[in-house]
Amino acid sequence: MVDELEKYRKGGFVDVPRIVKDSLESELFPGMLPEIESIRETDFPLFTKLGRVYLDNGATTQEPQTVKDRMYEYRKSHMRGSNHSKNSSEAKEAQEMWEESKDKLSKFFNAENYYIAYTGGTTDASNWIATRFPLEKQDTVLITEMEHHSQILTARNMAKKVGADIGYVPVYKNDGRLDLDKLERRVDELSGKKGKVLLNLVHASNVSGVVNPVKKIREIVGDDCYIYLDLAQSAGHMPVDLDYLGADFAGVSAHKMYGPMGIGAFFIKKDCEPMLKNDVSGGGAVDLVSKHFTAYTKPPARFEPGTQDLEGAAEWGFTLDYLNRMGMDKIASHDHAIGKYFLGELQKIDRVRVYGPADFSRGDRSALFAFNIGNFLLKNYGEVAQKLDKRGVSVRDGCFCAHPYVAKLIGLPSIAHEARTGLMKLGVSGEMIKLPGAVRAAFAYYNNLEDAYKAVRAIDEISKEF
Ligand SMILES: Cc1ncc(COP(=O)(O)O)c(C=O)c1O
Repeated sequence: MVDELEKYRKGGFVDVPRIVKDSLESELFPGMLPEIESIRETDFPLFTKLGRVYLDNGATTQEPQTVKDRMYEYRKSHMRGSNHSKNSSEAKEAQEMWEESKDKLSKFFNAENYYIAYTGGTTDASNWIATRFPLEKQDTVLITEMEHHSQILTARNMAKKVGADIGYVPVYKNDGRLDLDKLERRVDELSGKKGKVLLNLVHASNVSGVVNPVKKIREIVGDDCYIYLDLAQSAGHMPVDLDYLGADFAGVSAHKMYGPMGIGAFFIKKDCEPMLKNDVSGGGAVDLVSKHFTAYTKPPARFEPGTQDLEGAAEWGFTLDYLNRMGMDKIASHDHAIGKYFLGELQKIDRVRVYGPADFSRGDRSALFAFNIGNFLLKNYGEVAQKLDKRGVSVRDGCFCAHPYVAKLIGLPSIAHEARTGLMKLGVSGEMIKLPGAVRAAFAYYNNLEDAYKAVRAIDEISKEF
């Protein structure tokens, strides 16, 4: 073991199969879950059965067998009921289960000062803020350059509708971190201006792995700026304490945190609730409707019109029980340990360029890595992903629904990016002017050292083919 550690320190490749055979992973890489192999065997048997290394966790995660089994039992033993009533046994049970799941969510995100409304996911939550925030002409929406399209497009739509200003907070080209000085300057400029400011902010980037210092950002922007926080990539990978972070609104997706697809949540700070509009509405959100007037019901039900995804809520609740048993601190340490190993090895491969922070030393990086083999102009990312898939490694390629950020990180001049978009709008073939992209490998707590090793060895082999 000492030899291996020494070799690793000196920059050589580690003999992972030997380390794994001797069960030395958690000694050599502190923070790794010591029980990882039994977790995989019990809850993710398909990895071994199908021989896959699943590293497309930035897109969606796998659901533990324990959660699937609990859901199966739940369906077997419960008749279906719809919420918004307590007057039949089925409806009562459904309503109670709904409230119980919400309670679990509230505890999981330390969101007792928030109302929680279920949504279809993070994209849906971003559309919620865009349709319910009372934006006016004199207001400003700030978006960071590292946002996912779900934030950029919804923010632009809402600003366009009322003629409000929209501004981008820049990131540093070299490591993708947010430029906090420019954010501060921008907010200072706006403080003299009439009108509200809404900042759309991603917690953890789905491109560079940067984790934004949300608490510090809250201090920088002050209490007068509203923050909508996108938790899509942080939830399930690190503890998320909404009360501590100080966001006014937040959105999350269950499927990216080992839960079911098609359900997510929108968090609304209780103080901010009265300002929200009811532009999306319907049955169950009201107490009384006449031909001309509506008396809306109390939050959060006033934000949950129609029959909701009750089964999804139950399943998500089971996922949260599971994560609580595992411990989010332990999950975060495992993600980190494996990410550190993977990044270190990736950096040793000639011609591989990794985007985002070059190490974990500042504590603001997640185990999600976008990279290219060779120059980005080679546009070989699709081929690299296919070659990895053939070797049993699932990754994602392209621009990860974050074109402006990817363009900046890979070094495409802003003017060239705008020109491409303009030409595409005019009908020029996407193939000819497609935005160059990258390959993304994203880890989750069920990945083991061998997964990282196999992926890095495969990337090394592929890099020699180009
Ligand atoms: C940072 C970020 N925000 C939002 C989304 C959208 O999430 P969903 O597709 O679950 O709505 C994603 C999905 O990749 C994401 O990575």
